[in-house]
Amino acid sequence: MSDGSADLVISLRDVHKAYGSGAGLTPVLRGVSLDLEKGEIVALVGQSGSGKSTLLNICGGLDTADKGSVKVLGLDYGKASDRELAELRNGKIGFVFQAFNLLDHLTCLGNVMLPSSFSPRRGKAERKNVEERATEALRRVGLADLANRHPMELSGGQKQRVAIARALYHRPVLLLCDEPTGNLDTETGREVIELFSDINQKDGVTMLIVTHEQRVSSAAGRVVRIEDGSIIEGDAVLHGSGVMPKVKADAEVAS
Ligand SMILES: Nc1ncnc2c1ncn2[C@@H]1O[C@H](COP(=O)(O)OP(=O)(O)OP(=O)(O)O)[C@@H](O)[C@H]1O
Ligand SMILES: [Mg+2]
Repeated sequence: MSDGSADLVISLRDVHKAYGSGAGLTPVLRGVSLDLEKGEIVALVGQSGSGKSTLLNICGGLDTADKGSVKVLGLDYGKASDRELAELRNGKIGFVFQAFNLLDHLTCLGNVMLPSSFSPRRGKAERKNVEERATEALRRVGLADLANRHPMELSGGQKQRVAIARALYHRPVLLLCDEPTGNLDTETGREVIELFSDINQKDGVTMLIVTHEQRVSSAAGRVVRIEDGSIIEGDAVLHGSGVMPKVKADAEVAS
């Protein structure tokens, strides 16, 4: 691509989004432009209702922009077919949400295997492969021993790790995370952030993380803020490098 956007994991140009219509029209995004390069961790901050989840969902193809260009991993959402979008969403993008969204009647392993059910049905050998891959994802988040437990038997931090393992199942290039530590206490949240850092550094996964929390944004390579429907960058940049440095102790962050 001549504009160089082929090297970018996310490239947004002048994205607009409003909800409602007529007198009830609520503009949320009013010309957002944002690039994420491969290997970056970017924290997305802003007040409640500023449009963070909206922006994340648009990046993940879970919601559509009214206007503007959205390109993720080279796919132009405005021109892509439903099939291309679904393949990208199910194969190359992992989602992590605040509420974990695990199914209680499945084991941890069963929850991590869920993404495989979006692929065509398969034979016995492939089912074994799915199980091995899910076990590997659980190992990646340090929970291989809990594969046969059910979510209700886990702590909040363990639940979020299972959700992260599920997001990693397809070995995504991009993780989109919406308040991933929002339901966790400080220490558990810190461990989850360290896990994201490790996944970023060892597996090169690019991440866009919506957060309210200083400790997440302090750990990111770059912080962008949504304000009045636009992205503000610059003052909020905490580090020059795209790859996340080692997570700071909370005391250090507070100082
Ligand atoms: N499906 C929808 N229909 C109508 N309005 C919506 C919808 N989704 C979001 N909104 C509105 O769009 C605005 C932005 O919402 P969004 O969820 O993106 O904010 P947010 O920054 O993620 O907030 P929070 O920090 O509370 O999660 C809000 O005013 C919200 O009420
Ligand atoms: Mg939100």
